[in-house]
Amino acid sequence: MLKDVEREKWGSRIGFILAAAGSAVGLGNIWKFPYLAGENGGAAFILVYLFSVIVIGLPLIYAEILIGRTTNRNPVGAFVTLSNNHPFWRLFGFLGVIAGFSILSYYSVVAGWTLGYIFEAIKGTFYSFSLPTDAANHFNSLTGNPYWNVSYFILFMLLTMSFVYFGVQKGIELGSKFMMPLLFIILLVLLVRSLTMENTNLGLSFLIKLDWSVVRPGTFLLALGQAFFSLSLGMGAMLTYGSYMNKKDSIISSGFSVVTLDASVAILAAFAIFPALFAVGMEPNAGPGLVFHTLPIVFTKMQGGYFFAILFFILLALAALTSTISLLEVITAYFVDEKGWSRKKAVIIFGSLTILLGIPSALSFNVLSNFTINSLNFFDLIDFISSNIFLPVGGFLISIFIGYFLGKEKSIENLKQGSESFFDKYYWFGNIWFFFIRFVSPILIFLVFLRSLGLI
Ligand code: PFF
Repeated sequence: MLKDVEREKWGSRIGFILAAAGSAVGLGNIWKFPYLAGENGGAAFILVYLFSVIVIGLPLIYAEILIGRTTNRNPVGAFVTLSNNHPFWRLFGFLGVIAGFSILSYYSVVAGWTLGYIFEAIKGTFYSFSLPTDAANHFNSLTGNPYWNVSYFILFMLLTMSFVYFGVQKGIELGSKFMMPLLFIILLVLLVRSLTMENTNLGLSFLIKLDWSVVRPGTFLLALGQAFFSLSLGMGAMLTYGSYMNKKDSIISSGFSVVTLDASVAILAAFAIFPALFAVGMEPNAGPGLVFHTLPIVFTKMQGGYFFAILFFILLALAALTSTISLLEVITAYFVDEKGWSRKKAVIIFGSLTILLGIPSALSFNVLSNFTINSLNFFDLIDFISSNIFLPVGGFLISIFIGYFLGKEKSIENLKQGSESFFDKYYWFGNIWFFFIRFVSPILIFLVFLRSLGLI
């Protein structure tokens, strides 16, 4: 049952912004966004993406932070409190915790690769490749080795657990205050390197010149889904981080900063990758293999590439780590708030259980590769269920909850707390936001959902 435990808060407004931006900025920004942009026309995809961030990302991040901050609870406790313990909404809160658990289990496998690749870069392995197929073969032989895959996965989980273990201020906030600035600095260094190569025009025009002919209705849905995943929406991560936010702080400006940082990192990552990639004569449409198959070759062909390769994989690992921390925090907050567990116990038990759940994902690239359901291996299956089912259903129901159950007055009243002067000036903002949450988000998310099930 609901317990009134003394809960920690962020030490500062910037602490929340960096931690929440840390959750948002992840593999989705540096690994997935560039390859999606690469496959879907560059500049046009970037514009469609920005549009999606504004119409779906911003309203929904406000909604999630609002629910967390109003209740000071994890997803289950938050919906129990606001719905007067309605079983449906309690169950829904639970879905968020389960989604956190399942995403963490496979996301950390990929995150583990980034650690492994830091060492590959240090060893100078990339210099023995001459073609992307050499890099791809090497990647397949590493991930095909169960010991390599499982060890880096467990190492990454232990890193994640060590931050969450020390709590909101001393673990997550302190870690984010160190890791996020470092991440921005590395990204800027890589950006400058890429833009100062010879022959960057091809890459730049790919990212700047609009070509609408490649944009189809499906591109919008792809961009919407990506905006959603990238902003960590739909499973209570922003809700949980919002629950540690001070009532005096503005949801409007903090949420806006998080969204802006997230979109900027995705776009800057594309600018750090494509000009360099085109400059050495490679193709932008390598898909998911872009980072592990194509980039290693790009680094061997650029001046100082040895160091830039190391920096790039450190960048990826940092981005992933601040995201996995937020996933583990959702689960931890549930057991601390609702079950009265100590944080340390929750982290050790659920960190270990996540490792157990993740092992079949790590083995999907080797010993379990033939174990498939509907032609998806375990890793793909967990990814599919989490990203294509849990997250859209989560986002849809959060909009429905605010738009139809919590209602306009109560929602806007809570949103205004800490943003009084903003609402004095832009008194219409609450109405517009509520309109998006009540009508626009549910419809768009529903379409994304149908699309990801392959129904449209
Ligand atoms: N936003 C992260 C990324 O772009 O990689 C992924 C993620 C983290 C999704 C945390 C959901 C979440 F709760």
